[in-house]
Amino acid sequence: MFSLTQTVLSVLLLSVGAHAAVAVKRNTTATCNGYAEFCDRSYGNITYVGAHDSYAVSTTNLAANQDYNVTQQLKDGVRMLQLQAHNQSSTIQLCHTSCDLLNGGTLANYLDSVKIWMDENPNDVVSLLIVNSYDNIPPADYDTVFKSVGLDTMVYSPPSATLTASGWPTLGSLISSGQRLVVFLTTEANFQAVPYLINEFTNIWETAYDVTTTAFDCSVNRTDGDTSTQMYLINHFLDSDVAGIPIPDKSQANVTNGVSGVGSLGQQTSTCTAEYHRPPNFMLVDFYEYGNGSVFEVAASANGVTYAPTSPIATPITGSSTGTGGGTSGSVPGLHITSLHVAATCAMISGVLFGAWSIL
Ligand SMILES: *[C@@H]1O[C@H](CO)[C@@H](O)[C@H](O)[C@H]1NC(C)=O
Ligand SMILES: *[C@@H]1O[C@H](CO)[C@@H](O)[C@H](O)[C@H]1NC(C)=O
Ligand SMILES: *[C@@H]1O[C@H](CO)[C@@H](O)[C@H](O)[C@H]1NC(C)=O
Ligand SMILES: *[C@@H]1O[C@H](CO)[C@@H](O)[C@H](O)[C@H]1NC(C)=O
Ligand SMILES: *[C@@H]1O[C@H](CO)[C@@H](O)[C@H](O)[C@H]1NC(C)=O
Ligand SMILES: *[C@@H]1O[C@H](CO)[C@@H](O)[C@H](O)[C@H]1NC(C)=O
Ligand SMILES: *[C@@H]1O[C@H](CO)[C@@H](O)[C@H](O)[C@H]1NC(C)=O
Repeated sequence: MFSLTQTVLSVLLLSVGAHAAVAVKRNTTATCNGYAEFCDRSYGNITYVGAHDSYAVSTTNLAANQDYNVTQQLKDGVRMLQLQAHNQSSTIQLCHTSCDLLNGGTLANYLDSVKIWMDENPNDVVSLLIVNSYDNIPPADYDTVFKSVGLDTMVYSPPSATLTASGWPTLGSLISSGQRLVVFLTTEANFQAVPYLINEFTNIWETAYDVTTTAFDCSVNRTDGDTSTQMYLINHFLDSDVAGIPIPDKSQANVTNGVSGVGSLGQQTSTCTAEYHRPPNFMLVDFYEYGNGSVFEVAASANGVTYAPTSPIATPITGSSTGTGGGTSGSVPGLHITSLHVAATCAMISGVLFGAWSIL
């Protein structure tokens, strides 16, 4: 028979035990996303660099947005990965507008790479932003894939469907809990069905996308919530208008990604910070390595920390080289950049989805 003291003691021991079990997961001498200062800051109080169309990796395909694969992106400091999901014969495939144009492989393969990197880097919080508006795939189908790659145990389920920017847990507590992958879905999110697939637009507002002039403004373009308390995302990638179709403008990438100057990431970040009295939470860029780390320098400055890279980031891959470093092996059709292909590509896009090149 238990005495009151024994009961109290066992409850105390249990809670100490539970606390210790949780706390042991984070190495407290280490950092959170590279900075000790971030451990006590809310997830919603940090500025993260994001890779726009992170799976659209190729140095020869016009529809590509990145030169380097997701593993290299994470290694170099990208902490939000944006991706576009398509239903191909009931498999979730990562394609750009159309799977005939650019097919970045299956979501399962992509998430495998993310999981491998996260397992090797236990002190980092990573976010995924899944553009689901092409085929409106239901949450349960994503859940199946997350479970199949073993990422379901690493995803964060918020206490409610919508959190204000300051309502998010700290990076340190996300890391301690082991649930340090934050996943947003643009459409179909259902908190009751799959709580970790978080509704993007009730939690985050966005600036305009597919911008084709260097005047990146900070106006609210899309939201489904209260912009005064939500986190926000800037779409800072420049497209050039080719026969009415926006194509990633790689020739300007180092200027677009720059710390300062007309059309730079630094400039838009300063403008938005002045307008909203806080910097953006997420900054989506193309060809993130152009600028030699400038995008990470802008983020460090927005976060009030010193940019001090410990190793060089990937080298830009220029022109139509057939560089091997960035390819997602075997998954990208070899569309070489010639005017014939530009014309063919444009004709195909026009035919398939005129005016809707990229929903994000
Ligand atoms: C904790 O992190 C520090 C710095 O990264 C490292 O030197 C140390 O070995 C780690 N300790 C454990 C127990 O992982
Ligand atoms: C984080 O909080 C600090 C202190 O309140 C503030 O100056 C900064 O703008 C915030 N950053 C973000 C991204 O919200
Ligand atoms: C995915 O596409 C297949 C046909 O390829 C269709 O049978 C299935 O219903 C689709 N699933 C969703 C969720 O749209
Ligand atoms: C949002 O941005 C898109 C693409 O730049 C544009 O077509 C649309 O008109 C914008 N919507 C609003 C409400 O600003
Ligand atoms: C961008 O790259 C070009 C060509 O390599 C170079 O001339 C220019 O100075 C660079 N601009 C910036 C802002 O880094
Ligand atoms: C790139 O940045 C690193 C560190 O910030 C610096 O050491 C290196 O010299 C830079 N490389 C070029 C080509 O500018
Ligand atoms: C990703 O790119 C790196 C080089 O940047 C390469 O070593 C690695 O094999 C690639 N991974 C995959 C899965 O293609």
